Amino acid sequence: MNQQKTFLVFGASGQTGQHFVSLALKEGHKVRALVRNPAKLTFTSPNLEVQQGAIMDVPKLDELVKGADFVISMLGDAEMQKKEKINTAFVQKLVPAMRRQGVKRFLYQAGGLSAPPNQPLSPVLWTIRNTIARGYIGQHEDNEAVMQYLAEAASDVEWMVHRAGIGSNGPSKGVLQRSKKDISIAPFVDCAAYNYRLIMDPSAIHTCDLSCYKKG
Ligand SMILES: NC(=O)c1ccc[n+]([C@@H]2O[C@H](COP(=O)([O-])OP(=O)(O)OC[C@H]3O[C@@H](n4cnc5c(N)ncnc54)[C@H](OP(=O)(O)O)[C@@H]3O)[C@@H](O)[C@H]2O)c1
Repeated sequence: MNQQKTFLVFGASGQTGQHFVSLALKEGHKVRALVRNPAKLTFTSPNLEVQQGAIMDVPKLDELVKGADFVISMLGDAEMQKKEKINTAFVQKLVPAMRRQGVKRFLYQAGGLSAPPNQPLSPVLWTIRNTIARGYIGQHEDNEAVMQYLAEAASDVEWMVHRAGIGSNGPSKGVLQRSKKDISIAPFVDCAAYNYRLIMDPSAIHTCDLSCYKKG
């Protein structure tokens, strides 16, 4: 096992989040999770601390952040994000709390159809976003506002964004790696394992890359 770390996880009860938390616990780390419904979590562990709450109202955010080595967001609520940029509003409170508590490293999971700051999507991804995936436009706009905020106002924080291309809840298909232009449709389990590696990789700081399987 690597040295034991404390992960603060948002979205722990979600499809990527459940895999991520299982992996971090299996690797011997501590996990602190804020979840709306603790009953959704499919595991327990003495190393898992669960707090109940929603991101719109976290009264003791500094207490939640204090002592964490890594903060990770795998948040999403596509219906709510059609109306409001709830993730952006939350990240704008989270980052100052991280600064106050001296917590530096933050991973945010967005989607491959969310454009990185000041860069257009490829024509193929743009077409997919505006046709078969158009129900998620609010989520992508929220993710884009998060990336813009991090790029413009949080250069002192060791943030990184995973623009994931998740497709299913199936078994692992391999090991994802970082890519500027290639994206793989991967199961949640592989995206979670990628997040676990990424957050410990200093070369990923201040990147908004896609993930894809190694070719060949
Ligand atoms: N799913 C995909 O195919 C896909 C593809 C590409 C990118 N992404 C990106 O990855 C992110 C995570 O995807 P996912 O499929 O793993 O998400 P998911 O299964 O929908 O889970 C989202 C998580 O966010 C939590 N959450 C939502 N609103 C919250 C709130 N107000 N307060 C606290 N927690 C809240 C949910 O809690 P509850 O359990 O209480 O609902 C859940 O734990 C997405 O937002 C998207 O940006 C997803």
